[in-house]
Amino acid sequence: MKTILLNPGPVTLSERVRQALLGDDLCHREVEFASLQSGIRNKLLDIYQLADTEWAATLMTGSGTAAVEAMVTSLVPATGKLLILENGVYGERMTRIAGRYGIRTVSLRNNWEAPIDYVAVGEALAADPEITHVAIVHHETTTGRLNDLAPLAMLCAQHKVFMLLDAVSSFGAEVIDFANWPIAAAAATANKCLHGVPGTCFVIVNRDALANAHPRSVYLDLVAYIAAQDKAGTPFTQSVQTFYALNEALNELIEQGGVETRRQTYRSRMGRIRSLLTEIGVRPFLDDDEVSCVLHAYELPSTTNYIKLHDDLKAQGFVIYAGQGPYAEKIFRISMMGEIADSDVDRLGRALQAALRA
Ligand SMILES: Cc1ncc(COP(=O)(O)O)c(C=O)c1O
Repeated sequence: MKTILLNPGPVTLSERVRQALLGDDLCHREVEFASLQSGIRNKLLDIYQLADTEWAATLMTGSGTAAVEAMVTSLVPATGKLLILENGVYGERMTRIAGRYGIRTVSLRNNWEAPIDYVAVGEALAADPEITHVAIVHHETTTGRLNDLAPLAMLCAQHKVFMLLDAVSSFGAEVIDFANWPIAAAAATANKCLHGVPGTCFVIVNRDALANAHPRSVYLDLVAYIAAQDKAGTPFTQSVQTFYALNEALNELIEQGGVETRRQTYRSRMGRIRSLLTEIGVRPFLDDDEVSCVLHAYELPSTTNYIKLHDDLKAQGFVIYAGQGPYAEKIFRISMMGEIADSDVDRLGRALQAALRA
């Protein structure tokens, strides 16, 4: 029985992407690698119709956190100050990253079940003209909340500050208005909505943001990556095989209709599971208008516990995901990224009903 991963990455691979991993051995200083890397960079920009004169896709070997860390530690100027908006694990992680590198930071912490308080954000920006950048997690995977970026973009434009997006679990499936929001950069990874394998991550950087960049790390230096990659090189050895896989996953995304189609596909899969769970009395953690298309969290019914539910479903070929921190015993999460057929969703529905009615 094929196992279907319903955790928020890594995802179940298509056969095509899995086979791509078997591509030729390749030196990262050869022309074939240069063309693979440039092709991926162009395709990443094309997903959101971005011009390479204005934006640079920066490809790195590492997990999503490496991309976020590269963005935060490279793009806040030496004299800059970062406002970090938190409502989950990944917002809080950005504060930890900024703290380790001694970046001047103000963090606004919201409860994990709460939306970002934009009144407080407006007040923080008005009170502190030294703030140059605001960091936010687009889809806070901790709870499945899609943070509303439009009001933040307006506030940032009004106060002339730039947005740094952790788009690790939204890039490729959710709307990111690069053309109209004051985005300095968005960090993401190959193995979530793009359906590649873990090992490659990337940052989409607005080239204007490079003027005042201040890289604080040697390995995670976005300025060095962009300088090298614009000349078809790379500062360090890249994870060649995962590049093959990402390239194939991007070909698949393009052929399947791009971001909009992917969003509708996730929505339709998720909608079926959400209605079915609601019918049997399992309550979604967040309301319909708060959630991403990528992942939904549900309250664990008192008749079961996470380990039992997880193990029952795993025996049926489905891997779900636990809550984190204070929600570890209270919620379970189901993500719909990856190669999932309609028949898998049908089977999942039956498996959930059996496990939760038992
Ligand atoms: C929103 C978000 N940011 C960052 C990360 C960290 O990614 P990684 O575990 O690949 O380092 C994740 C992982 O799930 C995430 O969902």
